[in-house]
Amino acid sequence: MTEQPGTDERAPLVRVERDGVVATVVIDRPKALNALSPDVLRAVAEAFDALAAEGDAVRGVLVVGEGGRAFVAGADIRSLSTLTPEEGAEAARLGHRVAATIEAFPAPVIACVDGFALGGGLELALACDEIYATDASWFGQPEVRLGLIPGFGGTVRLPRAVGLPLAKELIFTGRRIDAAEAESAGLVTRRFADRDALLAGARATIAEVAENAWTAVALAKRVLVQAAGTPTAVATEAEVTGFGDAFRTDDMREGVAAFLEKREPRFTGR
Ligand code: HXC
Repeated sequence: MTEQPGTDERAPLVRVERDGVVATVVIDRPKALNALSPDVLRAVAEAFDALAAEGDAVRGVLVVGEGGRAFVAGADIRSLSTLTPEEGAEAARLGHRVAATIEAFPAPVIACVDGFALGGGLELALACDEIYATDASWFGQPEVRLGLIPGFGGTVRLPRAVGLPLAKELIFTGRRIDAAEAESAGLVTRRFADRDALLAGARATIAEVAENAWTAVALAKRVLVQAAGTPTAVATEAEVTGFGDAFRTDDMREGVAAFLEKREPRFTGR
């Protein structure tokens, strides 16, 4: 999680904090409003890979930006400025790999936005399972103002979150919307007065999720992620497969038995 040689940043760019079963991935590059350089992107992916290796010890992840001004203000524009077309495409692929890592993470991931979530920053948030935001937050895909287009999944995930017409408007205009508009558009699930309330709310959600069978939550996430990117007929078949897979788990047997026996389940994560 350190900068590659040839860059002038201090390290680390990303750190992970733990509070019981909740992990927090902090993007820590506040002087550049947490802009996603290739090194930051790789560090985010490494953080999620390490947390995934812990299995059911991690029941949810919060992603936050350091510094109080921005979640993430986009891909690092300086890093993009000199790229060839092939390198530009590779930059997009790196962002997609990070998004795929987050989507494959076997527990809920909540983007906790306090400030700007622009361009690649909004796209990073969209790769998370939910977006919580403070009232001081702003969302947008300003790439066209730079002669670019969204490259970390915004053309795919933003329409799914807010519907195609609004996604087109936001991408074509590059305009920013505030947290209240983002909430009414369905982009933001929950809105809070300040950062402390936001983090407490996100932790409470993870605690609620952690009451449930880890295996079932992970399966549900896998199927939801597959469904979101797939034609309906294929998605419903993936749901059939995932539903069947639940029957391979002890937790499913225990959950059903506990219900029938009118007692609390004792899930083991298997
Ligand atoms: C590199 C950035 C940055 C970015 C901010 N900074 N955003 N550096 N990449 N995306 C740096 C600024 O250069 C500045 O550094 C410092 O952070 C503070 O930013 P200011 O602009 O001085 O702050 P402010 O005036 O408050 O404006 C905040 C802002 C503005 C509105 C968020 O910074 C802004 O518009 N940023 C760019 C947003 C954007 O276009 N994002 C999309 C990027 S393209 P110095 O050294 O001067 O203090 C993208 C493509 C994704 O995301 C796909 C790629 C494949």
